Amino acid sequence: MPALSFDGALAVPGLSVADGLCQAGWLMQDHFLPSDLTAQLAAECVQSMLSGNMKGAGVGSGHAPLLQPEIRGDNIEWLEAGRSNACDRYLEHMEALRQTLNRELFLGLDEYESHFALYAPGAFYRAHLDRFRDDDKRTVSVVLYLNDDWLPGHGGALRLHPQDVPVVDIAPQAGRMAMFLSGEMLHEVLPTARQRLSIAGWFRRRA
Ligand code: OGA
Ligand code: MN
Repeated sequence: MPALSFDGALAVPGLSVADGLCQAGWLMQDHFLPSDLTAQLAAECVQSMLSGNMKGAGVGSGHAPLLQPEIRGDNIEWLEAGRSNACDRYLEHMEALRQTLNRELFLGLDEYESHFALYAPGAFYRAHLDRFRDDDKRTVSVVLYLNDDWLPGHGGALRLHPQDVPVVDIAPQAGRMAMFLSGEMLHEVLPTARQRLSIAGWFRRRA
């Protein structure tokens, strides 16, 4: 099984992409996008907050997800094609990734949805799966981090809870991408001490 076509080391040591995603249930990669693009996306995420376009994220699917700050405290804005050059470039990369995953892993991924997320200091997201009880179309979760110079003391790690092995903590360092199976990987965002920016997205099957 050849590696996916983005550069840099995959961080489930010794595992190919297929083994990482299908056996371990997760993988991550640094320098996922060109650094100028990561910086533009970070600036756009902050701008979205400053211009009041971000909303408190709800819990659950459907038209009226409930705000539940004791479960998740991030603010989000959904991305749409055409909103900016940087977002369109990001979406092109994700489309290439979708095609690669389908070619290599036969996942049958049909579409992609994603949002900017901003966690203010103190915010967190308790352990959860990314698949809703009434909507099992989310198949692969992908989070891209946008924070320069993240230090261990800043907290805010993505903590994965793979079955039968120790937890994995992934710091939200700029350019780093984490990918995992939406319906199987229990995960959480640990409380952050610093503003934490990301784009979270999901490859979905249509039916
Ligand atoms: C999510 C999520 C993880 C992260 O938005 O569903 O789990 O590291 N995000 O931001
Ligand atoms: Mn999640």
